[in-house]
Amino acid sequence: MQLIDALEKRRCVRKFKNKDVSEKEMLDIISCSLNAPCAGGLFSVRTIIVNDNEKKNKIAEACLGQTFIAKAPYLIVVCSDKKQTEKMYGKYANNYIKQQAGAAIQNMFLRITDLKLATCWVGSFDENAIRRILDIPSEMDVEAVLPVGYADEKVEERLKPELNSVLRLNSYKTKPYKIGKKLDT
Ligand SMILES: Cc1cc2nc3c(=O)[nH]c(=O)nc-3n(C[C@H](O)[C@H](O)[C@H](O)COP(=O)(O)O)c2cc1C
Repeated sequence: MQLIDALEKRRCVRKFKNKDVSEKEMLDIISCSLNAPCAGGLFSVRTIIVNDNEKKNKIAEACLGQTFIAKAPYLIVVCSDKKQTEKMYGKYANNYIKQQAGAAIQNMFLRITDLKLATCWVGSFDENAIRRILDIPSEMDVEAVLPVGYADEKVEERLKPELNSVLRLNSYKTKPYKIGKKLDT
């Protein structure tokens, strides 16, 4: 699949088939997180694959009762180990950590789409509850939960914002960007 197609097709899915995903595909998806940019080359993202049914149910509960999560054959729980980034970047580290976790999550999301699998970016959860379920140390951040499986629903196309409603040229105060003139010399 071309990158532009994966970008266009990427959608959050909340209904999964009772069909397994191969270990090869799961490792391929996680590997794509490693290609994400990270401040100072200090890769802070850590991932935990969960396929234990009891733990999946507990995690769905910790995600404020989003029960669809436990129906996927696998969950990828994305965490950040902040120590090195904090050592190098001090007060900027927290911002960097969140940005690089987002980049890693999006890389995985796009590869999941490319493999014709499905996921949903889940960011609503009780972080301490997830730490307890998966034995994650308190100094680590839990960033997101990605249930991974085969889609059992067709998600409607989403209306995107108009490009000229979100873009400015040279100053935020300028009028919305007028397409067709200003970038070509
Ligand atoms: C940081 C973040 C947190 C999110 N948390 C949840 C969540 O807890 N549960 C959920 O069903 N979707 C969650 N989503 C998915 C959004 O609802 C979804 O991306 C948005 O509705 C746009 O739909 P699309 O991703 O299919 O284009 C989250 C997305 C992001 C980026």
